Amino acid sequence: MPQTTRAKRAYVETYGCQMNVSDGELMEGVLAARGYEIVGCPEDADVVLINTCAIREHAESRVLGRVSQLNGLKRERPDMLIGVTGCMAQRMGDSLLERAPYVDLVMGPDGYRSLPDALGQLQKEARPRKRKQLAVLELESSENYQGLEQLRAEGPSAWVPIQRGCDHRCSFCIVPYVRGPEKNRTPELVLAEIQGLAAQGVTEVTLLGQTVNSYRHGDVDFPRLLRSVARVDGIRRVRYTSPHPNDVTPELVEVMAEEPSVCEQLHLPAQSGSNRTLKRMLRRYTVEELLQKVALVREAIPDIAISTDIIVAFPGETGAEFHETLDLMRTVRFDEAYTYKYSPREGTPATRMPPEDFLSPEEAQARLAELIEVSRGIQAEINRSEVGRVEEVLIEKGGREAGQVLGRTRRNKVVVFDGDISRVGEYTRVVLERTTGATFAGTEALAVRAAVQA
Ligand code: SAH
Ligand code: F3S
Repeated sequence: MPQTTRAKRAYVETYGCQMNVSDGELMEGVLAARGYEIVGCPEDADVVLINTCAIREHAESRVLGRVSQLNGLKRERPDMLIGVTGCMAQRMGDSLLERAPYVDLVMGPDGYRSLPDALGQLQKEARPRKRKQLAVLELESSENYQGLEQLRAEGPSAWVPIQRGCDHRCSFCIVPYVRGPEKNRTPELVLAEIQGLAAQGVTEVTLLGQTVNSYRHGDVDFPRLLRSVARVDGIRRVRYTSPHPNDVTPELVEVMAEEPSVCEQLHLPAQSGSNRTLKRMLRRYTVEELLQKVALVREAIPDIAISTDIIVAFPGETGAEFHETLDLMRTVRFDEAYTYKYSPREGTPATRMPPEDFLSPEEAQARLAELIEVSRGIQAEINRSEVGRVEEVLIEKGGREAGQVLGRTRRNKVVVFDGDISRVGEYTRVVLERTTGATFAGTEALAVRAAVQA
């Protein structure tokens, strides 16, 4: 009896930011549309794709380790294909194929439309034993993957990319080089996609872009798009990330304050609290302007939670300038800070600063440790002051312990409480009872819940 050929199986493993998570879903969608079965581990897969990040050196070294580990699997199953996709693939290109000769495919962030064809070509050529490697590295100034279906993880929340690439040139950042210029999706398709998601039961969407609030398509700018998204039937929560501070405008803040579904949360990447450093980072704002943005937002939405990104030990950062960053932390009192040591990225302007400007790893580490201590201290103080509040929580998944669930408040704070995993997707009200400093433990306000349901 002739054997029916089984579907090829693919596994996608993603590193890095939410945009990359969303790209991983896109790759899965593209492959599923071409008959691939998507599987949950590399052992089950004919094709293993590692979707990578290039933002810091550490992110890349982790991937190199992971890929060489996968080579062990490939030795047992020589037909297996290994692909490296995303920003690190774009940055390293052919040199990655040399450095890791067992990698079959490198593909940058603009190549995913042709992913099944590239894999098909490699599968065909693998047969007459002549192994071939393939690199797909063109940056397409128009590719925004409009019209392709993502294969989204099930659940109440969805990432919705509305923009790819970046038109800024922050002097430390590799993103514009590996993701190309800013490309915005049409508002009609963004809205249609979100309506479709809502019809499938999604109630929370996060709009994604490198400078998401600089979005503009024709005469639709970001505030206008946000308002339309906020009004889609069935969508109860809208978030967006990451905005650029310069595009936090009064119009945007007005939409945030007026539309009930837009969450009381803002990520506002500051990077530094020193004007000289900000200037050399090419961030295009001053500390004073940043503080004005914070004031604008807090005046309109007093209860808003604000998070940030900070880089320490940027080349030439003096001790006094680092202390200005600590001052900024104490002035703004961010609810959360993502903190990084400067990591030189080849080809970016900051790497061309005078060699004597680069800080020693010890000094950089000391600054990072001090910044973390300050920012965690502030975060813990804020969160302790919130104990006792009753907050609306969307249940996202099971907690670490059986019988517990984990959810987020509108202000993006994580809360763990007793509940059954079958309740993922439900909204409930929870009393915040304890905090570790970063996350909360609570108890459902059952009385409140019963009253709402009645
Ligand atoms: N606008 C983008 C920024 C992407 S990078 C966004 O979607 O968030 C995320 C953060 O990584 C940046 O805000 C910055 O704080 C940090 N980062 C970027 N390049 C870096 C580098 N070379 N070294 C250390 N941190 C970096
Ligand atoms: Fe990077 Fe600056 Fe754009 S941080 S993603 S170049 S806004």
